[in-house]
Amino acid sequence: MPALRDATRGRILFGGDYNPEQWPEETWADDVRLMKEAGVNSVTLGVFSWARLEPRPGARDFGWLDRLMDLLHAHGVGVVLATPTASPPPWMGSRHPETLPRDEHGQTVWWGSRQQFCASSPTYRAYAAAITEDLAARYGGHPALTMWHINNEYCTHCWCDETARHFRRWLAARYGTVEALNEAWGTAFWSQRYDAWDEIIPPRRAQYMRNPAQQLDFRRFTSDALLECYAAERDIVARHTPLVPVTTNFMPFWVGQDAWAWAGQEDVVSVDIYPDPKDPFGGQYNAMVGDMTRSQANGPWMVMEQAAGPVNWRGVNHPKPPGLNRLLSLQSVARGADAVCYFQWRQSRQGAEKFHSGMVSHAGEEGRTFREVKRIGAELARLGPEVAGARVAADVAVLHDWHAWWAGLQDGMPSREVAYPEVVRAWHRALWENGYAAGFAHPEHDLSGYRMVVVPQLYLLTDAAVENLAGYVAGGGTLVSGFLTGVADEDDRVRTGGMDVRLRELFGIRTLEEWWPLDKGETVACDGFDGTLWSEELEAEGGTEVVAAYRGGELAGLPAVLRRGRAWYVSTLPEPGALRELLGRAAAGAGVRPVVAGLPDLVEAVRRGELLFVLNHGRVPVTVELPDAAGPYRDVLTGAEVAGALELERFGVAVLREAGR
Ligand code: GLA
Repeated sequence: MPALRDATRGRILFGGDYNPEQWPEETWADDVRLMKEAGVNSVTLGVFSWARLEPRPGARDFGWLDRLMDLLHAHGVGVVLATPTASPPPWMGSRHPETLPRDEHGQTVWWGSRQQFCASSPTYRAYAAAITEDLAARYGGHPALTMWHINNEYCTHCWCDETARHFRRWLAARYGTVEALNEAWGTAFWSQRYDAWDEIIPPRRAQYMRNPAQQLDFRRFTSDALLECYAAERDIVARHTPLVPVTTNFMPFWVGQDAWAWAGQEDVVSVDIYPDPKDPFGGQYNAMVGDMTRSQANGPWMVMEQAAGPVNWRGVNHPKPPGLNRLLSLQSVARGADAVCYFQWRQSRQGAEKFHSGMVSHAGEEGRTFREVKRIGAELARLGPEVAGARVAADVAVLHDWHAWWAGLQDGMPSREVAYPEVVRAWHRALWENGYAAGFAHPEHDLSGYRMVVVPQLYLLTDAAVENLAGYVAGGGTLVSGFLTGVADEDDRVRTGGMDVRLRELFGIRTLEEWWPLDKGETVACDGFDGTLWSEELEAEGGTEVVAAYRGGELAGLPAVLRRGRAWYVSTLPEPGALRELLGRAAAGAGVRPVVAGLPDLVEAVRRGELLFVLNHGRVPVTVELPDAAGPYRDVLTGAEVAGALELERFGVAVLREAGR
């Protein structure tokens, strides 16, 4: 199977989305000149080119793309060629309204933006297949082609009649009979029993709360329907070019896509990362996305998009202060990225994203943004031979599963304040601040390679996952679980007793009587810390260690954190310092140590292959004491020798090779 290394060939890919159709052809020569100056070796072409390539149904206009492919190749720039199927031309919706999505109210989602397609529409799929076929036939042998990029950020949802028919086929394959579906969805409730497949519809707007299991299956179906679209295009390009890797770019923690399932269908796992430059923990977010994507890729991965400056889709769009783009780019490389790319090469002058930054911003080649881009390009060129292809080891796994997230999102949950991605982020942040090497895993993955596994929250756990966790602890692993875990089975059927009985035994919980969710901003006093978001009325089995008890409110005196052997259960969300301390205790017992001990706050150390990356996410300079034993070090970016203390400017990075390595 082709892989990222077939495109990188020992380098780090550097470049971005290139949308030359927005510019007069005279600009192209300037583009390639600047790309050369910046060390750009890869661009993604054609993501939104459908209307240009197929101006009317069945017509083809490839001349401009021929010229671009040749021009880029002549300048040593490889092409990640996109199928343009994320944005159908207006003629499609206008001639074939059935290709347009309908929202849950039955309203049409019109053209005039992008992504206005129904994944279940045979007409859309036929047009998408045809343009993909022609692109692959025309450019499959072009020497500039290094990778295929299918569609873009698959994220559409549709509730139309065609989708309903497709949903029924998906359900029939899953359940076999309507009776089995009735059983799984619990349709005895509120007289929802279905008598025939044709009665089943997507969870459209309804009078009151909708069936949670139906909602869960619809999310599963939607992810699968989009994956079918991806796989159809992938199969076409793979038939033409079996040796060229294929990817599609994920939005990290995007709710609509089970990225574990998708990653298994890609040769290269790529992701778009946009931390808010104003977020003091933006570096942690970047780290978390890197850890997640590397785990999905099980090796090197690709930053398909990031911003050189501001985005334009937040309420307030902050630019990146000098140094931040470089810091986040090198951080991604530290965490296993072999490609650092941007949306987009040249900032647009028109259209909805004209205030979104580009590598060449409106300020042009003299601007600070481009100067920084050039510096990053030069450094990545130096780093490539030292690090491309190298792996990043992780001691700790964070468990994450889209199905658990989806199930917890349904109508009628005990609290609307529990935001799953925020809970995951809080736990990852504690690991990040402690300096551990962490990755992500699915609850059914083999966990035996990790010293410690943490479960921020998995409301839904399959039987296989429960057995996997119990087996992991029985095999000597340390497990730390957060609240609202193991509550429901695969069909979102509650496991009575508040939590699966096997997990209660594992954690030493005799009873879980009630959940006591907290209001927004409310805290509950526990021994030595405050809990937030949630609390639980628990009774411990004899022999279970109560690590901390509730000290305030209705639950005063009852266990808040308990532990049986290597299995810990945390029934609230401790405030950040306390979660960090708690995970520190569990980690110490599990033999997990920070990559480099004793670092100042907001300084991160990551080991990749033979290199040690030291990154200052703080906005002030710091001095970092490095372990003497491994020194002296050589900074591979500057060539300088570093012994003892390392000075890092604000947002500074050093990439070090240890003596003897
Ligand atoms: C996404 C898309 C791009 C662009 C950027 C803007 O990542 O894939 O086309 O819209 O967002 O941040």
